[in-house]
Amino acid sequence: MDSTHEYLFKFKGYNFEKSLVNIEHLETMEDFEIRDDDLFLVTYPKSGTIWSQQILSLICFEGHRNRTENVPTVDRAPFFEYNIHNLDYVKMPSPRIFTSHLAYYLVPKGLKKKKAKILYVYRNPKDVLISYFHFSNWIVLLEATDTIEQYLEKFLDGKVPGSCWFDHIRGWYEHRHDFNIMFLSYEDMKKDLRNSVIKICSFLEKKLSEEDVDAVVKQATFQNMKSDPRANYEDIINSEYSVRNKGYFMRKGTIGDWKHHLTVHQNERFDMIFKRNMKNFPLKFVWDVNEE
Ligand code: A3P
Repeated sequence: MDSTHEYLFKFKGYNFEKSLVNIEHLETMEDFEIRDDDLFLVTYPKSGTIWSQQILSLICFEGHRNRTENVPTVDRAPFFEYNIHNLDYVKMPSPRIFTSHLAYYLVPKGLKKKKAKILYVYRNPKDVLISYFHFSNWIVLLEATDTIEQYLEKFLDGKVPGSCWFDHIRGWYEHRHDFNIMFLSYEDMKKDLRNSVIKICSFLEKKLSEEDVDAVVKQATFQNMKSDPRANYEDIINSEYSVRNKGYFMRKGTIGDWKHHLTVHQNERFDMIFKRNMKNFPLKFVWDVNEE
């Protein structure tokens, strides 16, 4: 265990956000008892986590779908490794939805029984990088960086919560046969939200009516989430976290924003490292909104 960095806490080779960590929890995470109907949403940070939390919650909880219940997303699908509201995860009624940024080798061993489901949502890493850069400069829990050039180095070195993007996605993908897991991309969700919702329902073996699917899609659009404080973490940011300037979790919500930020040289450097790390990797990444 090593905790030399002011903002990071390294545990078993993985960087956690330091101030949110509870060591006792980290040490017992792998033995946490998994139920067959548990659902884990796993993402690398800034890959569409809140969006997917919202979608899963809308699919699984009728009261969310028809707006008869008023529970913040973060409590519907709480972070597994960071129990920020001190919920009693053991007593949580089924079906439980947990959200996690953990590397594949840190999650509860019970997930390897392949009963409980894992939805892994990924996003093209250049957009992740830009989103993470802005997010880290906004929220006080994370280390701010002056320039994208500096942040690029941190990101590529994995010196951020979530560690190295390449290791995260490769690790999960290469160990996919150990889990009951479905991979879905942010870009697929962006390009065809309805179809993505249907795919998720089918993975979850959840039969929703056409109207219910419509209700999920409607409440999971960027615009609707942006104006819903429960869905966009505004309530939590306002009451629990300090920020450095005005900003939003729902920042742009687009594909290809990296083009407005990376220089030609930075982009080439990223491509070179991407190629080296992702050789023979079969999942497709969409870098541009016009790409098929
Ligand atoms: P940007 O910073 O590029 O706008 P996470 O939840 O993993 O932290 O990811 C946050 C990113 O997902 C942000 O990206 C945010 O705007 C985007 N996002 C959140 N909800 C979205 C939605 N409904 N549609 C599209 N993008 C969404």
